[in-house]
Amino acid sequence: MVEIADFTMTRATGCPLDPAPALSEYLQKGPMRRVRLWDGSTPWLVAGYAEQRALLADPRVSSVPASPGFPNFTNAFAASGFSFVVRDDPEHNRLRRTVIAQFTVKRAEAMRPRVQEIVDEQLDRMLAGPNPADLVEAFALPVPSLVICELLGVPYADHDMFQATSGAILHQETTPEGRAAAAGALYQYIDTLIGARFAEPGDDLLSELTERISAGELTWPEAAEIGVLVLLAGHETTANMIALGVVALLEHPDQLALLRANLDDPKLVASAVEELLRYLTIAHGGRRRAALEDITVGGQTIRAGEGMILVNETGNRDPAVFTDPDRLDLVRDARSHLSFGFGVHQCLGQPLARIELQTVYRTLLERAPNLELAAGLDEIPFKHDGFVYGLYRLPVTW
Ligand code: HEM
Repeated sequence: MVEIADFTMTRATGCPLDPAPALSEYLQKGPMRRVRLWDGSTPWLVAGYAEQRALLADPRVSSVPASPGFPNFTNAFAASGFSFVVRDDPEHNRLRRTVIAQFTVKRAEAMRPRVQEIVDEQLDRMLAGPNPADLVEAFALPVPSLVICELLGVPYADHDMFQATSGAILHQETTPEGRAAAAGALYQYIDTLIGARFAEPGDDLLSELTERISAGELTWPEAAEIGVLVLLAGHETTANMIALGVVALLEHPDQLALLRANLDDPKLVASAVEELLRYLTIAHGGRRRAALEDITVGGQTIRAGEGMILVNETGNRDPAVFTDPDRLDLVRDARSHLSFGFGVHQCLGQPLARIELQTVYRTLLERAPNLELAAGLDEIPFKHDGFVYGLYRLPVTW
């Protein structure tokens, strides 16, 4: 009888830049095993890279939280999710298709000059302000928030509200009532903005959504939910990745020196971003799914109605795919990482996230050549308790 261990994703006991030690141990023991969740259920934990890719690409695997056996993160997360991220095809595809044109590589490239302006302005402000500063508040959070506000057509002046509600939604300790209230507030907010766009359309995603409503392709609630998903997914993730990437670079002086010496080489900067994405895997705690039919993978059969947790942070450290996977190596080819997920739900905003991260690291290192942490690693508050890994604060000096 194999003992089933409790699932934990906290990185608090090991190096905060590595996956949770318990999860790394699972990977060493094999690609798949059962774990016990907060509600007593025992879904499959899938630690291996190949098995994760196979399952994420399999149409018999469901993202719908109401599917039998679905492994919910918490009691609060059992209640709701947003739009097409929690739907299966063909419904997922119908909804995702309505906004896909806004998120192509070409569209993201067209935003590069504006992203650069936003990064420059925020850095001007931070570098002219008090030193040391909190990099999260002064830089990492405003940059992607401003970008997503412009893309969606949301007033940045409301950032306190949408950052606070997003924070509550993504915190594990939030109660079901607290999460429903935060989600309701965000939904109401986007709903009102969509209403205003009918009267006064602009050149933004919310206006595009109103056109889709008028064309009968989306209902108003479907459009509002897409707006909430994009706002939420578009700023929290990138903000955490910016701050965590800075810590990873400062903690690896040889890699930092290599990047600093090659800031005018877009290929190397792009490669550095892919490797930081792989190494840090901020969408931690696993992609959550349930089997709709029996599926055999990695020598195991997952039965219909059983849940699975596909732990991208261990997939990204699988030695079968990445040589010496625990080493941060900015020149390795890390492009096949799983940090944006895989399969039909693969991150819609990844071209934009890449452009933001490339612009941020290059400009920050150029303009702050003496950037350093202003606190020990053990004093920095990491988001062990969030659904997106990252930092609450990052004291830096320059
Ligand atoms: C470093 C930054 C980012 C990371 C690490 C990230 C990660 C992810 C991951 C892992 C998924 C897959 C979820 C799943 O399979 O269940 C996802 C989906 C998604 N992401 Fe991102 N994301 C980032 C930035 C963004 C940005 C900037 C946007 C929007 C502007 C965005 C919008 C979305 C959307 C809409 C989905 C749902 C896709 C679907 O279900 O079809 N993300 N993201």
